[in-house]
Amino acid sequence: MRLDVVSIFPDYFAPLQLSLVGKAIDKGIIDVAVHDLRDWTHDRHNTVDDTPYGGGAGMVMKPEPWGEALDALEGAAPQPMTIVVPTPAGRPFTQAMAYELAQRERLVFACGRYEGIDQRVIDHCAERYELVEVSLGDYVLNGGEVAALAVIEAVVRLLPGVVGNPASLVEESHSPEHRLLEYPNYTKPPVWRGREVPEILFSGHHAKIAEWRLEEARRRTAERRPDLLADPE
Ligand code: ADE
Repeated sequence: MRLDVVSIFPDYFAPLQLSLVGKAIDKGIIDVAVHDLRDWTHDRHNTVDDTPYGGGAGMVMKPEPWGEALDALEGAAPQPMTIVVPTPAGRPFTQAMAYELAQRERLVFACGRYEGIDQRVIDHCAERYELVEVSLGDYVLNGGEVAALAVIEAVVRLLPGVVGNPASLVEESHSPEHRLLEYPNYTKPPVWRGREVPEILFSGHHAKIAEWRLEEARRRTAERRPDLLADPE
């Protein structure tokens, strides 16, 4: 998979070199290119924003640098582009969307700042490419960078060869096979600061352990995320 990221803060993406995503780059599973939007400006101050038509607080990202950036990226590689725009006005990002995006050949993350990107850029993307506007949650970040990092990590770990043991993808919270929050996990020592590991986990009785874990997962989900139990999807 090829990933392009366009941002006015390319340094935000240095952590992509770490951990599983970094290893996926080293193994050639993904190819990542981070671009500075200001490279597609032509004025002395490398201006990327301007005041909103109609008035109001804040600034809006100008369409011209985005248009040039998208044209350049389109010409740089042959794969069809899926444009991902992180925005609090997007569809809530879910594990199902991560699985869907993991099928794509090329993802281009367009990270907005300020009050967002001129709507005509979004409309242009919708017409010319596949476009996905995603929100990380019902809160406002300073820009799309942190959301893009989260989406990249969620997608890349689903690609074959990235996570060492693919069985771990099945049991985890929000996996399509198992729409429950994950059960609690324990490791050695058996007693820590007077707190014991639940007895059942020493029993070696796999069916009973599986039943206990499912019960714990259901209990947690009912307590913390009753919406997941109510949603038949
Ligand atoms: N940009 C600013 N806030 C955001 C959010 N909640 N999700 C995605 N992108 C954002």
